[in-house]
Amino acid sequence: MPNRSNPYLPDAARIEEVRVETPDTKTFKVVFCDDDPRAGFAYRPGQFAEVSVFGVGEAPFSITSTPTRAGFLEFSIKRMGRVTRALHEMIGGEGIGVRGPYGNNFPVDEWRGKRLLFIGGGIGLAPLRSAINYCLDNRGDYGDIDIIYGARSPADLVFKPELEQWANRDDMTLHLTVDAGDDEWTGRVGFVPAVLAELGPSPEGIITITCGPPIMIRLVLQGLAQLGFSDEQIVTTLEMRMKCGIGKCGRCNIGRSYVCVDGPVYNLAQLRQLGAEH
Ligand SMILES: Cc1cc2nc3c(=O)[nH]c(=O)nc-3n(C[C@H](O)[C@H](O)[C@H](O)COP(=O)(O)OP(=O)(O)OC[C@H]3O[C@@H](n4cnc5c(N)ncnc54)[C@H](O)[C@@H]3O)c2cc1C
Ligand code: FES
Repeated sequence: MPNRSNPYLPDAARIEEVRVETPDTKTFKVVFCDDDPRAGFAYRPGQFAEVSVFGVGEAPFSITSTPTRAGFLEFSIKRMGRVTRALHEMIGGEGIGVRGPYGNNFPVDEWRGKRLLFIGGGIGLAPLRSAINYCLDNRGDYGDIDIIYGARSPADLVFKPELEQWANRDDMTLHLTVDAGDDEWTGRVGFVPAVLAELGPSPEGIITITCGPPIMIRLVLQGLAQLGFSDEQIVTTLEMRMKCGIGKCGRCNIGRSYVCVDGPVYNLAQLRQLGAEH
C-alpha cells in the first residue's frame, strides 16, 4: 500500500487500452500518471484494488494482470451497476483513480513444486489469470498446470486470444468448455463440474484454485471432495460486498474475518473455520 496519511486517496491513473471481452465484460489496461505511485504499487496475484470514476464512485476489482509483467495493471470488469457502467463508457486516454493493492494473495510461493489445477467459470477467470500467468512466467517452479475454464456460451469466454495461446503451449493443458455451443463452436460442450469429473485428477501433490459463479463453485467443491481432495488443497477467492477495502467500515466480514484484509483468498479449511457457507 502506498505510504500516505489518507488511505482513501486514490492515485491518478490513465486507461491505456480497453479490450472488449464479451457483451458485458471489458478489460482495462491502466497506467499510473506519476512515477511515484507506480513504484509503490507492488502487488501479488490475488490482490485487488479500488478503482474510482470521478463523480460516480469506486468499486473493488481483482488485479488480473501479473506482477511479472510490470508497468501496467489490468482489470476485467463486468457491467453491473453505477461504477461498472461508467467504466464501460470510458475509452483509452481517460483518467480514473486507483488505490491499493489490498487484501491477501494466492500463496504462489507455497505452491512451488506442486501440480496446479485452476478451475474457472465466466468472469471468475479474472483473478485466476493473474496467478496463472505468474506461474507460467516462473514455469520451472511448478509441476503440471491444468486449467478448466467454462462459460455459458462461446461469446461469454473472456481472454480469448490468451486462451488460444494457453491452448497452444505444450507445458500446460487448457480444458475449455461452454454450457451451450453455437454454429461455429467445435470444442467441448458441458458444465465445468462435469469436465472435472471426466478428468478425475488424483489429489496427490496438487493444489486447486477455483473462482466462478456460486452454483459452479458448489458443484466443483462436491466434485473435488468425491475425488478425495482435502479442504487445505482447495483455494478460492471471494467477492463480498466491500466499501473501504482496508478493514475500517465493517462491510465485508465473514465471522470475525474481514475479507478485504484477511482475504479475499482462503482455502476451504479456513472458510469452514469461519463458518462460511459453500
Ligand atoms: C475482492 C473483489 C474482487 C472483485 N473482482 C472483480 C473483477 O475482477 N471483475 C468484476 O467485474 N467484478 C469484480 N468484483 C465485483 C465488483 O466489485 C462489483 O461488480 C462492483 O462493485 C459493482 O459496482 P457497481 O457500482 O457497478 O454496481 P452497484 O450499482 O453497486 O450494484 C449493481 C448490482 O451489482 C451487485 N453487486 C454489487 N457488488 C457486488 C459484489 N461484490 N458481488 C456481487 N454482486 C455485486 C448488486 O447487488 C447490484 O445488483 C470484485 C469484488 C470484490 C469484493
Ligand atoms: S470493506 Fe470495509 S472493512 Fe472490509
